[in-house]
Parts: sequence; structure tokens; C-alpha cells
Amino acid sequence: MALTNCDTRIGIVYTSVSGNTKDLAECLKTGFLQCGLSPILGEARGFPFEKLKDFDAIIIATYTWGNGEIPGSMRPVYEAFEQQNLKNIVTGIAGTGDRFYPNFCGAVDVFRDMLYVRTTLAASLKVELAPQDSDFPRCIRFVESILKRLGQ
Ligand SMILES: Cc1cc2nc3c(=O)[nH]c(=O)nc-3n(C[C@H](O)[C@H](O)[C@H](O)COP(=O)(O)O)c2cc1C
Repeated sequence: MALTNCDTRIGIVYTSVSGNTKDLAECLKTGFLQCGLSPILGEARGFPFEKLKDFDAIIIATYTWGNGEIPGSMRPVYEAFEQQNLKNIVTGIAGTGDRFYPNFCGAVDVFRDMLYVRTTLAASLKVELAPQDSDFPRCIRFVESILKRLGQ
């Protein structure tokens, strides 16, 4: 399918307790907006699983819980991707974590391995706690990797 900027459907789904991952998701949204795209940003709990295939690209933003685990609120998202063949959907996985823990951003690694098999994974990004100004160029590179894979 030939895509143009205006008809590319991009979703950003995030989960966040103390706000770090929400900030990261919003940084990524800003990156897409700067590239002329208008992604839909939404929390994992309201994720429209039945409409997965309506998206050209989906970005997942998650924090890490337990010992390198995916938070419970992200499990249904993980399972929705795991149970389908979605090779025509471009994905990116981003997350925040804390280097205090031995498995830094472990949830990003768990998602990355699954998305690599089930989807067309284009980018991954790990951010320490709240995104800083110095993380914004990394967000832009993440967005550019997604757009490159979409052929834009
Ligand atoms: C109980 C608990 C367990 C955590 N486990 C990990 C972990 O294994 N690896 C990691 O990188 N961060 C871990 N974290 C840190 C959070 O992932 C980090 O603070 C994150 O930025 C929180 O995101 P939020 O502000 O969007 O809720 C843990 C935090 C808590 C409270």
C-alpha cells in the first residue's frame, strides 16, 4: 500500500503510574507531529484490540515492574500482539525504567523479542526515569526509524 503522510494511521499506547512513561509517550507524539503526522495517543486500558489491524504503525510505551516484568496493565496489549500475525504492522517499543534495578527496562526487552517475531519491529528506546531534554533527539531518531520502515 502506498502511504502518504496524511493517511498514515499511527497509534501510541502507554501505561504509566508516576508519569515518566506518559511523558515519554508525549515526547514521541511530539516527534511524530514535527514530522507532519498526527498519532492517536491512548492508555493501555482503553486500547482498541479489535482495531489493531486498522493501524499502519503502533508504538508501545511501558514502564517496568517487579524484576524486569511487564506491568499488569500492559499484559492484554502484549497478548493481543502475541496471538496474531501482524507482520504488516510496523511497531516500536519504548520504555522508562530505573538503573537501580538489575534488569533495566526489562519490559522493553520482553516486548521487543515478541514484536520482532509477530510484527515489523522498527525501533526500541530505553529512557532512565523521566525523559530529559537530552532524550528528545533519541525520540526523534526513534520516530525516524518508524517512518523509514513505513517508507516515508
Ligand atoms: C516495585 C517496582 C519495581 C520496579 N522494577 C523495575 C525493574 O525491574 N527495572 C527497571 O528498569 N525499573 C523498575 N522500576 C522502575 C520503574 O519502571 C520506573 O520508575 C518507571 O519510570 C516508572 O514509570 P511511570 O512513571 O510511567 O510509572 C520498578 C519500580 C517499582 C516501584
